[in-house]
Amino acid sequence: MRIDAVTIFPEYFAPLELSLLGKAKERGILTIGVHDLRSFTTDNHHSVDDTPYGGGAGMVMKPEIWGQALDPLMTPQTDLIILTPAGERFNQRMAEKFANSQHLIFACGRYEGIDARVGQYYASQNFRVHEVSIGDFVLGGGEVASLVMIEAITRLLPGVLGNPESLVEESHAQDGFLEYPSYTKPHTWRGIEVPEILLSGNHAAIAAWRSAQSLKRATERL
Ligand code: ADE
Repeated sequence: MRIDAVTIFPEYFAPLELSLLGKAKERGILTIGVHDLRSFTTDNHHSVDDTPYGGGAGMVMKPEIWGQALDPLMTPQTDLIILTPAGERFNQRMAEKFANSQHLIFACGRYEGIDARVGQYYASQNFRVHEVSIGDFVLGGGEVASLVMIEAITRLLPGVLGNPESLVEESHAQDGFLEYPSYTKPHTWRGIEVPEILLSGNHAAIAAWRSAQSLKRATERL
């Protein structure tokens, strides 16, 4: 998979070198390009934003610069993801869909967002364009939202996780079911014991207990 991120703060993407993602890059499972939006400006002030038509507070990111940055990156295989709190809500199902893509571009807006014509234009050229939000809250920009999505998506790629079994278990725990509580040694910690059933060796009973716990967590958190 290839991932490109376009941002005015390329430094935000430094964590992609760490941990599992860094290893995935080394192994050639993942190629990542981070592009500084400001390098596509042509004016002396390197300005990326301007006041909104129709008035109102804040600034809007200029479409020409986004066009300059995105044009050379777009291919028929690309899924262009525009991060915005007004987008479709990100979830595990969406992560699975994007994990099947060959090329993801994360367009990280700041301020009041990117001029709406940018998404409109690439959609009109038959590219796949997705406006995505990671939750009902407003971040300072799309960078952290992109990192969240990149982590959720790339851990689904074959060869990224150390133990692919954990993906199989998670897929059972999906569709509104949160995961069951987990325990490791010691048997007693600060007076709290591990649930006895987990020591029973009865795999069917353990599986039943775990799904009951998942269901309980899901209903408690509704
Ligand atoms: N940019 C600002 N807030 C955001 C959010 N919740 N999701 C995605 N992008 C954003």
